[in-house]
Amino acid sequence: MTNIFLLKRDITTSKTLRAVCGRGLPPLAHLAPELFAGAGHICLATDRTCLNKFKRTFKKTLGRRWDGTDIFVLPAGRAAKTFRALEGLLSFMLKRGFSRNSLLIAAGGGSVTDLAGLAASLYMRGINWISVPTTFLGQIDAGLGGKTAVDLGGVKNMAGAFYQPALTVCDAAFLQTLGPGELRAGAGELLKYALIGPEALRRRILKSIEDALKGDAKALQELVSACADFKLSLTARDERDETGVRELLNLGHTAGHAFEALSKGRLAHGRAVLWGLRYACLLSIRLKTLEPAQQRTVSGILWGTEAAPLPAACFNFRAFYRLICYDKKAGAGKNRFLLIERPGRITAVNDIAPGILKGTLTALKRR
Ligand code: GLY
Repeated sequence: MTNIFLLKRDITTSKTLRAVCGRGLPPLAHLAPELFAGAGHICLATDRTCLNKFKRTFKKTLGRRWDGTDIFVLPAGRAAKTFRALEGLLSFMLKRGFSRNSLLIAAGGGSVTDLAGLAASLYMRGINWISVPTTFLGQIDAGLGGKTAVDLGGVKNMAGAFYQPALTVCDAAFLQTLGPGELRAGAGELLKYALIGPEALRRRILKSIEDALKGDAKALQELVSACADFKLSLTARDERDETGVRELLNLGHTAGHAFEALSKGRLAHGRAVLWGLRYACLLSIRLKTLEPAQQRTVSGILWGTEAAPLPAACFNFRAFYRLICYDKKAGAGKNRFLLIERPGRITAVNDIAPGILKGTLTALKRR
């Protein structure tokens, strides 16, 4: 089964934006012939692991355009999200004579799609790009919706742009190759959707999450389609994260990003988000936003799945506090958290006293 979601027309580029989910999808040029017809040069940006693993798939998906496609190999993981890597990709396209009509295809995890999407937004002030997320987390969140970024000064995603891919392709065939650890990295974002989404999505996620995390093909494909559909519906209503609709997607990310940064690469994004959600749950209980009748349900959702332990560095409150004050919505030196009222109902709270935040961090350590 293939699902095609059409986003609204993007205001800045006036192009129709598409996301396609399914398994064993047709070649990219069949999904978006117009992107290929006008593209003199094509660059595939990926990382070494993906290239080794998926070269045959990439070849197949590019069809007769494979010969002549320039391949740019990014460093694996977060090392891709630097100005150095960004300049490397931009210079690579410049040296090969890329023009405004060229096409950039980003195939890989969230770091690859974030970096390449930003490069696409900058090269000659913007060229077409296609997002091909190959990880579970990338297919349900990072690779969709046009947020692109690099890290700055040790803080995640501090320099970036909203720049929609002209096409997003979530092919569940990539997920069949992932090991249990890589699939589990998607658990945090999945549970986020279970808490912010409508009842039907929550039921679907809770029913299939364990099967999906064990690699069940049907469960993975279904959850990718359901989450992608929901995320794109929020993105279409609030593309530039201005009205509070898209902000829902940040549940668990304020503390999660701080944990990820403090772990210095030991905690992958998805795992850090699961801990960030747990932190948000404990804070919601402390600040009494979470209705007492819902506490067991929400705790059951968040503590019901296995999580890698938080490294000791994450419990350094001063460092944690400094990082959460970089939240883009909070304002300089301030903090802002999304808290849970009940599944499906989230509220934002600003300027929480540091003592409360510190007490919550201690409580998280003890759970
Ligand atoms: N990952 C959050 C967003 O796309 O808005």
